[in-house]
Amino acid sequence: MGTAVITGAGRGLGRATAIRLAADGHRIVAVDLDGEAAERTAAAVGGEARRCDVADWASVDALAASLESCDVLVNNAGIWHFHSLLETTPESVAAVLGVNVVGVLLCSRALAPKMIAAGGGSIVNLASAAAWTNSPGTGIYPATKAAVISLTKQMAIEWGEHGIRANAVGPGLIVTEGTADRHSGDRSRERSRNIPLRRVGEPRDIADVVSFLASDAARYVTGQTIFVDGGITAGRAAL
Ligand SMILES: NC(=O)c1ccc[n+]([C@@H]2O[C@H](COP(=O)([O-])OP(=O)(O)OC[C@H]3O[C@@H](n4cnc5c(N)ncnc54)[C@H](O)[C@@H]3O)[C@@H](O)[C@H]2O)c1
Repeated sequence: MGTAVITGAGRGLGRATAIRLAADGHRIVAVDLDGEAAERTAAAVGGEARRCDVADWASVDALAASLESCDVLVNNAGIWHFHSLLETTPESVAAVLGVNVVGVLLCSRALAPKMIAAGGGSIVNLASAAAWTNSPGTGIYPATKAAVISLTKQMAIEWGEHGIRANAVGPGLIVTEGTADRHSGDRSRERSRNIPLRRVGEPRDIADVVSFLASDAARYVTGQTIFVDGGITAGRAAL
């Protein structure tokens, strides 16, 4: 097992993924805009921490320069500003595109050369069920996650000859620090009724599938998106 670099690893799905990939035997580099949160995750898994803004070219270049190798990259850092399209502001568009789309590109193009030098690697990008099932008031967020799915395919076709696999995971409704305010008791129960598996997700539901895609068990899988959403993208469970 080699080095796994996970962005947005300070909490939520990124932290759960760091814990899972560490259990798989990877050496973890926990990356986050919140340096203290990254330190906490690194301490929990015996790994290293880096403070980095994935949307900033110089910050990502400094991250890459600080790493000897990268065998697995999980582009997990993501943000959302929920409002209607009519309420969209230039600042909001720049911020959400910057982290969710440009950030995925920056980290991948900065770290892919290390994978190429080592003969290959695995990139796992966090998309979203929202790329497939839009909801009112989610602004540009679903479009950024659709872009992640397209970027994932682009990486797969451009870097496959170097042994790099690129795949995406599309979470459904997962309770994390970032989404907790939308999962209060009654709302969560109401939402669960519409999910085929009748429950919202837990971070480990996502981390287990990231682990699979990062592993040799997925050695012939590239350019794919696996929706880990309890069936949300299959349709509504109730009328
Ligand atoms: N939780 C869900 O229900 C859900 C559903 C679909 C997709 N996702 C995606 O999964 C990913 C993780 O979601 P989460 O719920 O764990 O989020 P979260 O808000 O709980 O955690 C996100 C982490 O990313 C870090 N981060 C934010 N901007 C950053 C930047 N510019 N550079 C580096 N780090 C940055 C934050 O500091 C935070 O630690 C995101 O890409 C999100 O869009 C989540």
